[in-house]
Amino acid sequence: MLIRKPPDIKSSEITPERYYFNRRELLRSAGFVGAGALLSGATGAADEGPAGHRRLGKVERWPASLKTTPNTFEEVTTYNNFYEFGTGKADPAEASGRFRPKPWKVQIDGETEAPGSYDYDTIVKAHTLEERIYRLRCVEAWSMVVPWVGIPLASVLKRYKPTSKARYVAFETVVRPEEMPGQRSGVLDWPYVEGLTIAEAMHPLTLLVVGVYGVELPAQNGAPLRLMVPWKYGFKSIKSIVRISFTEKRPPTTWSLSGPNEYGFYANVNPNVDHPRWSQATERRVSSGLGSLLAARQDTLMFNGYADQVASLYTGLDLVKNF
Ligand code: MTE
Repeated sequence: MLIRKPPDIKSSEITPERYYFNRRELLRSAGFVGAGALLSGATGAADEGPAGHRRLGKVERWPASLKTTPNTFEEVTTYNNFYEFGTGKADPAEASGRFRPKPWKVQIDGETEAPGSYDYDTIVKAHTLEERIYRLRCVEAWSMVVPWVGIPLASVLKRYKPTSKARYVAFETVVRPEEMPGQRSGVLDWPYVEGLTIAEAMHPLTLLVVGVYGVELPAQNGAPLRLMVPWKYGFKSIKSIVRISFTEKRPPTTWSLSGPNEYGFYANVNPNVDHPRWSQATERRVSSGLGSLLAARQDTLMFNGYADQVASLYTGLDLVKNF
């Protein structure tokens, strides 16, 4: 999705952590039993997951989770897009060693009856965490299946009482160039910003994510809080959120500012609307080892396979013009 030439960002000295949790272990378990539960058996210390990531407490399984086998923990945490740490797929894991996701505060403002600066625990701890296995389709035409842990965004937003004027929800990523080497480059304008209509934000599939594979989100995946909107291209799922604003007007979004002819506000996964520079009809499922040699491209599904749940949000909307 690069528009400009990648800047010359050096990866930090941090050696990528090694993870031992792989697909074979997943398959070995009797059927697929929640990734979180499986992790408990696969690691030693009571509250530690792979590579020392802190395991989240009680996580409920979402009944509608996909039956598809998820990508491995290693794939999910070493093949990333997070330009704040560089533009290469390995940069986020390799260059995020200095990033400190705690303590963390989120500014909630705009059309709300409860504006303020709230800390992570205040936002998250009132809710039951759910594990949801979602497809992730990047606009670059690769995809993954990821067992996220999070809270329906609607449940969180409702606690902060949006007013009747709130038609959109805007999100902002933290700006910390001293911890995020990619922000010392001008590859994008910082902060990274995103937005949804209020109906999209309140849709039951839209998740405020705090973890993956039963552990706290690693920095490279958007610690400590990120969005996951599974029927939209991955760039809508903004990472490391520090501000949520309820707005009357449609908010600006990073990629549509950067390339207005290539990236729209809606960014719904749509195999019938090609990117100006490549087809969106098919996708490559990220895989490693032998799998990567054997993997065939697969068809991309309308709304990334979630059409039965989300198509009604767009009744009467021209999905070609509103790409
Ligand atoms: N959020 C921020 N702040 N910065 C980014 O560069 N990249 C987006 C999205 N969220 C990005 C971001 C893109 S293009 C994708 S595909 C997903 O994050 C990737 O999420 P993952 O690395 O956890 O798979």
